[in-house]
Amino acid sequence: MSEHPSNGPRPLLPGQVKSWLGVVAFVLVAVALLGYAFVAIRPTTNSDLDRRNAQKALRADTEAKAKALLTAPAKNADGTYRLPVADAMAVIAANPQVLADLRKSAAAPAAVVATAAFVKADDEQMKRGLAVYSRTCIACHQPTGKGLAPVFPSIAGVPIVNGDATLPIKFILHGLMGPITVDGVTYNSMMPPVAGVSDQDIADVLTYVRQSFGNKANPVTADQVKAVRAANAARTAPWNTAELGLK
Ligand code: HEC
Repeated sequence: MSEHPSNGPRPLLPGQVKSWLGVVAFVLVAVALLGYAFVAIRPTTNSDLDRRNAQKALRADTEAKAKALLTAPAKNADGTYRLPVADAMAVIAANPQVLADLRKSAAAPAAVVATAAFVKADDEQMKRGLAVYSRTCIACHQPTGKGLAPVFPSIAGVPIVNGDATLPIKFILHGLMGPITVDGVTYNSMMPPVAGVSDQDIADVLTYVRQSFGNKANPVTADQVKAVRAANAARTAPWNTAELGLK
């Protein structure tokens, strides 16, 4: 044991070393935090970018395929004819996000929809559809289909109703919420899922809506509804306009 000048307890480390250790510890913590931030933030940015690029590529690919189908000769090798627009629509409809994107940038799907041959619904289906409409939609969207701004949006002459039936089928099955602008009015409300309607009821009511109130779109079948129901069997929450790419 060596002698210490003071009588008090001997410090474990001299003061100078202690402050150096403090600086080193601070630098280590700072580097660790920066490293963590870098690792935590970078992958999200990369995967976001990847997702956007993949989406762009998928969209370009889908558009190219749809265009090719639209301009392909409608006569098959075996001498039968097909409707190129139906093939093109099927290609686009297989990619819901692409469809949503196309809707946003309007021109392309409008052209596709406009060239589809219009099929008039039969009177029986229109009659059944009116009955379902009077039971399940009329209170909000009104007998005119024009809704009640600014609480219930119009379903007369609006793009969603005259486009692919998948979206309105989804709204009826699970409801819709989130901001949506219809005829220049922004709604941020909720449409509840419509209870007690069969696949045939939904097909009928949408057929009625798509051929009333100045709308002009093709009839909907129970099979179409069945497919959308099956594809979203696990879903419980209402659809959100943001996730569907609607504005
Ligand atoms: C309780 C009221 C209510 C009922 C019943 C209802 N809706 Fe809606 N609907 C709304 C509201 C509110 C919105 C807008 C939701 C939002 O803000 O995101 C909407 C949105 C819509 C939209 C998309 C927006 C647009 O105007 O194009 C369609 C299509 C639609 N409803 C069709 C129907 C059909 C068809 C029925 C009947 C089977 C029905 N709704 C029943 C309240 C209702």
